[in-house]
Amino acid sequence: MTEKKLPLPAEELKAFAERVGTPFHIYDGRAIRRNAEIMMDAFSWSEGFINYFAVKALPNVNILRLLAAEGFGADCSSLPELRLAQEAGITGERIMFSSNDTPDEEFAEAYRLGAVINLDDATHIDSVMRACGRMPRVISFRYNPGPERTGNAIIGNPVEAKYGVRHDQIADCFRRARECGAERFMLHTMVASNELEEDYIVETARMLFSLVDEIHGKTGIRIERVDLGGGIGIPYRPDDAAISFSHLSERIHALYTEMIEQKGYAPLKLSFECGRCITGPYGWLVSGVRHVAHKYKDYAGLDASMADLMRPAMYGAYHHITVLGKEDLPHDRTYDVTGSLCENNDKFAVDRPLPVLERGDILAIHDTGAHGHAMGFNYNAKLRHAEYLIEDSGIYRIRRNETYEDYIRTQLDRPEKVI
Ligand SMILES: Cc1ncc(COP(=O)(O)O)c(C=O)c1O
Repeated sequence: MTEKKLPLPAEELKAFAERVGTPFHIYDGRAIRRNAEIMMDAFSWSEGFINYFAVKALPNVNILRLLAAEGFGADCSSLPELRLAQEAGITGERIMFSSNDTPDEEFAEAYRLGAVINLDDATHIDSVMRACGRMPRVISFRYNPGPERTGNAIIGNPVEAKYGVRHDQIADCFRRARECGAERFMLHTMVASNELEEDYIVETARMLFSLVDEIHGKTGIRIERVDLGGGIGIPYRPDDAAISFSHLSERIHALYTEMIEQKGYAPLKLSFECGRCITGPYGWLVSGVRHVAHKYKDYAGLDASMADLMRPAMYGAYHHITVLGKEDLPHDRTYDVTGSLCENNDKFAVDRPLPVLERGDILAIHDTGAHGHAMGFNYNAKLRHAEYLIEDSGIYRIRRNETYEDYIRTQLDRPEKVI
């Protein structure tokens, strides 16, 4: 069981919402910092351990700065994410650049910044050399185990995944990279998303440790770092249990001793690139009830929409909802909690037991601190909403509401003739 907490007493959060206007996302910086410290402490036995925070989970420079101060790096997958990392003071090999069908100019910029470039395919060796003018000295490959692993519900079956190098290709990729001038080698995988089974993450470590041995046997190459990817889950539902970083770390340490140290591959650095389990539980989308409508079902229409949080509509994901000030009332009504988009699946919850709702109630939708605001969009010309950060010294606005002027900025009032 996981208690669904608010970042402030309900009355204070409600008063804040009434003061600044809904909807908005709010993050608890104090809790994020504590959580980052717990992760770093848990893996302190592993020299050079780093979590490259997945920028895509919460791409706000203020959050990246906070995490950088805790020793985190950044996992970037686009040019703007590389810029954000730089803005946050995360530089050089503290940046992991995981390529996704990457354009040459992004490889070139990642190389210029001294980031670790993580290649997704054997053919990307030529691309990176063309883009950078040489093979980077340090190079990483993303591994796809194919039928060796099952994947999980969100990330899917590895055989169907567009990502990563096949098992029969991986040793050759490292060999070829060395022939082209690479001198230091890292190995990466990402085979889970929102995974709450500790065993699955431990098995990922086992898979990579065994591959370190296999690659060495086939090529003589010693892997310097393995990156176990992101994908550690969070308890979205009150009856889910969180993964404990310290317990996970103990189990990985035992495997490391057996498969790395005792076989002479130490020191091997470890990393994750977790986003969700770092910031996810410490974000809330706060939104007001605009209409309560009684149709064939009862609907509570919010001032937020799936443009603010698309996980429920996209994956049917559960996000817990607290009605501020009504926590202790009986949850004896059933609502579909809907957004304001002209899309029938714009729903934050379906058939959710809640206390009786009325216009003006304020709801906190939990666990929106990762892949929440970040996945937002402008369909229906919805303007994107503000983000706030709670610190000991006060509550800070870290992104303002988008305005019509922001939205229209890229449209050309006078069409430019192209041909
Ligand atoms: C390559 C890669 N690394 C890390 C992550 C972060 O995953 P999570 O936020 O679930 O930890 C993702 C998520 O999509 C990813 O694609």
